Amino acid sequence: MKMNLDNTPAAAVQSDCLVLGFTEGGDLTPSAQEVDEASGGAIRRLLESRDIDTGIGKTRFLIGLGGVSAPRILAVGFGKQDKLDLPRFDRACLAAGKVLRDHPLESCHMCLHELEFDGSDAGRRLRQAALATHRSNYLYTTTKPLKDDSPVPLQSTGFQGGEELQPHLDQATAIALGFETARTLGDLPPNICNPAYLAQEAASIAEKYERVELEVLEEEAMAELGMDALLGVSRGSANRARLIVLKFTGADADRNPVVIVGKGITFDSGGLSLKSGENMMQMKFDMCGAAGVIGAFVACARLQLELNLVCLVAAVENMPDGDAYRPGDVLTSMSGKTIEVLNTDAEGRLVLCDALTYSEKFKPDVIIDVATLTGACVIALGHHATGLMSNDDPLAEELTAAGAAIVDRAWRLPLWEEYQSQLDSPFADMKNVGGAPAGVLTAGCFLSRFAEEQRWAHLDIAGSAWKWGSDNGVTGRPVGLLAQYLLDRAG
Ligand code: BES
Ligand code: MN
Ligand code: ZN
Repeated sequence: MKMNLDNTPAAAVQSDCLVLGFTEGGDLTPSAQEVDEASGGAIRRLLESRDIDTGIGKTRFLIGLGGVSAPRILAVGFGKQDKLDLPRFDRACLAAGKVLRDHPLESCHMCLHELEFDGSDAGRRLRQAALATHRSNYLYTTTKPLKDDSPVPLQSTGFQGGEELQPHLDQATAIALGFETARTLGDLPPNICNPAYLAQEAASIAEKYERVELEVLEEEAMAELGMDALLGVSRGSANRARLIVLKFTGADADRNPVVIVGKGITFDSGGLSLKSGENMMQMKFDMCGAAGVIGAFVACARLQLELNLVCLVAAVENMPDGDAYRPGDVLTSMSGKTIEVLNTDAEGRLVLCDALTYSEKFKPDVIIDVATLTGACVIALGHHATGLMSNDDPLAEELTAAGAAIVDRAWRLPLWEEYQSQLDSPFADMKNVGGAPAGVLTAGCFLSRFAEEQRWAHLDIAGSAWKWGSDNGVTGRPVGLLAQYLLDRAG
């Protein structure tokens, strides 16, 4: 979908649909005011009669208003004016975007960002509205072609406003592309999106953007580096693993990069600790950490941010096989630390630990790993918050603030050293499972042992990366949080 700014007065806009926002108890926005005057007071009458519903996320099409060039208006409710904040604004914009996608419209003209509320500015509201519209417009088509009754995504959206808003729209466009990249990769079936496919995708990104370099390590190279934890997971699969390294040099080469590391388990059967059918069903999504860091990388490369970024993807498939690793095996990680594998389904931490050790060679300023790591995170935080763990308070605060600023929120969980002893093993430096209590934290504790000398944070996106149930599919999170963090750093 194309997005552009358009200063035409709302009533005169040529578009399939004009999109106006309303709150309960708030003033009419400038565009709503304009349309009200052009239509001889129709807007105020429709509000009065409650044909415009101001409830949050409620939408009404108003057809054929006199004096208005657009053939229809979508009136969008944002709830009570005094309760309006960025998360509620975002939620109503997403709901509006969904209605627009499902309706046979090619273009629309958005004025939702004219709604003011405390702590917001026009640029941020425009960016959030544009991002929400673009995200709602997403439709998976790779293996399901469009049919007559399919939703009809928008081709273009104009946003009310002048060129002073262009930098904000450019950010939205880049971040939206990052989200779309992550979702498309995440939604692909595991028989298409395997480690080799992810490497190919990285190659096309490297070709497309300036200042991007790619390196892909195959299993032989990883074996030479001693990555036996990662390779242990891969052994049961016929699809060979890849360690994908995308580098973006947007600042002086000697500036320490941000390193983002993604769990790219393209399918997680559990290995010999086989998952049940019910639990295995969604495990094509186990590469959403990889999809998220690749999406954030795309947003950064498209904006050509003034910073250095390394994106590492541990692309591996976890399968049972005669040659698969077993519960009881002891693996020696690249760091030299030994790991007793008690459950082959706790594979994410095994591929990530070697990727974390490898990332030290880039002399990172910070390392952030992203992973659909634990079912326990879903139990703890549900689907709204990403789990955040870190060994560095300022970094944890920066990431939390970045997530809040773009409504892709994370919540910090305590990585106290008291939890570490749950990983004690009589046969190795650690075991790969910490038992039932605080499973999300013992997974974080495990990773922390491979980032002791680094400013490091871990994002567990098991609950936030995809939607469960009938609207099943990838959300693209945490592309927004990561992109905002990178924007904040680039200044
Ligand atoms: N990929 C799963 C975690 C997961 C489960 C994410 C459900 C989203 C939804 C991970 O590899 C896994 O299997 N974790 C185990 C760890 C356990 C064996 C310690 C889990 O959470 O059950
Ligand atoms: Mn698993
Ligand atoms: Zn997994």
